[in-house]
Amino acid sequence: MPENTQTTPLAPEISGGQGTSRRQFMGYAGLFGAGLSLVACRQEPINTMTPAQKQDIAILNYALTLEYLEADFYASFTGTGANVSKLSRQEVKDYAQVIAQHEQAHVDALKKTIMDLGGTPVAKPNFNFGPLIGGKTVNDELFLQLAATLEPVGVRAYLGQVARLSNPDLIAAAAAIHAVEANHVSAIQELRVKLGFNKSPTRQTSIAPQSVANPTSTTAADFDADYSPTPTAFWEALTMEQVLAIVSPVIVK
Ligand SMILES: [Fe+2]
Repeated sequence: MPENTQTTPLAPEISGGQGTSRRQFMGYAGLFGAGLSLVACRQEPINTMTPAQKQDIAILNYALTLEYLEADFYASFTGTGANVSKLSRQEVKDYAQVIAQHEQAHVDALKKTIMDLGGTPVAKPNFNFGPLIGGKTVNDELFLQLAATLEPVGVRAYLGQVARLSNPDLIAAAAAIHAVEANHVSAIQELRVKLGFNKSPTRQTSIAPQSVANPTSTTAADFDADYSPTPTAFWEALTMEQVLAIVSPVIVK
């Protein structure tokens, strides 16, 4: 991973992934001004928005929820995160750090953009990754396996929404983030291959993390994290409903 990536300090309120408190809320509020907006600033009161503009905001909030999830997952393996002591290889820690910064930058930018468009960013849910971890030991291998499961969901989620956006600026922004999520897929799988964790390093798939055996399953136990770092010529999109079915087990109501 490149060392010269622009860094955004992770909010300590987010990195623990614990509960929602007033202190946390104020922490998030403090981030609103820090993000890079994805559109030229032009606020619209919500009651004068067209249906298409309202749909854009809804899609941005959907994307924000997924980015919260990804940011929370990686943050738990960096800084003061709950799982930081579970990683042993410096290289794996470095990947967690860089990708955590990307995901947090996505969160910040989406929040700022939603506000610039006159919308209200959804609050960060509480996440519990226990259903993904099951009874397994959290270590370098499991961290990378879970990352290889989550990243393609992000890729396919953005792909599923690009054509539903009406604002050209947002289409371009979604494509930019989509590309980075695909970069994450490749980076994670390159490292898994290098470390001997990936048992199918040449497998081509357009439906990762879903498997050939259970191609439409949204259950984590059916997923297959082993596939090529360059897995496909054309990713297949996931609908909002499919993505929410996949991620809902880790969202604590
Ligand atoms: Fe990502």
